[in-house]
Amino acid sequence: MTNTRSDNILILGCGGFIGAHLLERILRQTDYHCIGVDLSSRRIGRLIDHPRLTFRQMDIHDNRELVDLVRACETVVSLAALCNPSLYTTTPIAVIESNFCKIYPLVQACCDHHSRLVHFSTSEVYGKTLAGQLTQNDIIPGIVPEILDEATSPLLLGPVRAQRWCYASAKQLLERAIYAYGFERNLEYTIVRPFNFIGPGMDYIPGIDGDGVPRVIACFMDALLHQKPLSLVDGGRNRRCFTAIDDAINAVMLILAHRIESRQRIFNVGNPANEIAICDLAKKMIEHYTALSPVANSSQFTIKSVSALDFYGAGYEDSDRRIPAINSILELLGWQPKIGLDAALRSTVAGFIESYQAK
Ligand code: NAD
Ligand code: UGA
Repeated sequence: MTNTRSDNILILGCGGFIGAHLLERILRQTDYHCIGVDLSSRRIGRLIDHPRLTFRQMDIHDNRELVDLVRACETVVSLAALCNPSLYTTTPIAVIESNFCKIYPLVQACCDHHSRLVHFSTSEVYGKTLAGQLTQNDIIPGIVPEILDEATSPLLLGPVRAQRWCYASAKQLLERAIYAYGFERNLEYTIVRPFNFIGPGMDYIPGIDGDGVPRVIACFMDALLHQKPLSLVDGGRNRRCFTAIDDAINAVMLILAHRIESRQRIFNVGNPANEIAICDLAKKMIEHYTALSPVANSSQFTIKSVSALDFYGAGYEDSDRRIPAINSILELLGWQPKIGLDAALRSTVAGFIESYQAK
C-alpha cells in the first residue's frame, strides 16, 4: 500500500446496507482510498473493481489482520454487526460476540495506533422510553420523556431473561468502553446512534437471499411481493422514526469531514418528523407497493395481528417509541434530515421491486 495513513479509510461492514451506501458515496465524493472489510460482497459487486477500493473478505475477528489494517488507516468506520431483532432471541451469544467482543479489540487498536473511530451504535440503547413507564401525572422538570437525548435520556433496558435487550446491552457496553478510552487514553471517536434507516438494498427476502426474519420493512416487502398477510407484532402499536438512507449518509459524510466538531461526540441520527405506528406503516406500504408495482392490486393484501411470542419466540420485548433529539448534530455539523416518510418509503419499495419482482 503506497498511500499515507491519512489517505486511507477502513470501513468494517462495507458490504451491509449502510456500508454499501456509505462506500458508494465516499468513493464518489472524496479522494479516500477505501479498505473495505465484510464477510460478503453481495451488495457491492458494482464497486468491487473501483481503483480506490481494496476489499477484504474476512471476519473482523481476525485480530492480527485487523490490527494491520487499523495501523494503515487514520480513519476507521465500524459497521460490522449482527443487528437483526430475530437473532436477539435465537442466537444471543453470537449477537453479544458480534456487537461487543469482536469490536472491543478494534477500539483498543484504534487507541494504540491513534486512528479515529466512527462507530455505529444504535437507537436501541435507549431501550424503552421513559414515557412508556410514566403515568400522565409524572412530570419530570426539564425532560420531555418521549424525546431521546444523547446527553440526558436514561437507557432503560428490560430484564436479563428478556433476551431482546442483549443487542442493546452489548452496544451500550461498547459505547461505554469507547467513552472510557476517550476519557482515560484520549481515543478520538464519534458514536452514531442510527434511528431505523431505510432505503433500497436493506436486508433480504427470506428464502431468496437470506433466512429467518429480517427487519420490519423487508418483512412487509416479503408479504407484498408474495401476497402473504402483513404481520403486525402485538397489533403494530409500537412506533418508530424511519430515516431515509440518503439523509443518514449525509450525516456520516459531515461527521467524516468535521473532525474537530465530531471529536468525542455521540450523535443521534434520525428523523423525528417521520414517526409512525407500525400498523400505519403496513397500510402505507400497501399503498406505495400498489402504486409502484405493475402487478399489484390493493385488494390482494391483508394485515393480521400476531403475538410477539409467536413471531419472535420467548424473550422478546419491544421498544415502544423512540424519537431522536437532533439538536446536537444540527448545532455542531448543520445536519438535519430532509426526506419525508412517504418519499423514503417510495424509494425503498421501488428498490425492492427492482431487485425482487421478477424473482
Ligand atoms: P447489515 O446487516 O446490513 O450490515 C452489517 C454488515 O456487517 C453485513 O454486510 C455483514 O456481512 C457484516 N458483518 C457482520 N459481522 C461481521 C464480521 N464478524 N466480520 C465482517 N463483517 C461482518 O446492517 P446495517 O443495517 O448496515 O447496520 C450497520 C451498523 O449500523 C450495525 O452496527 C448496526 O448495529 C447499526 N445500526 C443500523 C441501523 C439501521 O437502521 N440500519 C440502526 C441502528 C444501528
Ligand atoms: C431495529 C434493530 O434492532 C436494529 O437493526 C437497529 O439497531 C434498530 O432497529 C435501530 O434503528 O436502532 P426494531 O426497530 O425493533 O430494531 O426492528 P424492526 O424489525 O424494524 O421492527 C420495528 C417494529 O416492527 C417492531 O415493533 C417489531 O415488533 C415490528 N414488526 C416487525 C412487525 O410488526 N411486523 C413484522 O413483520 C416485523
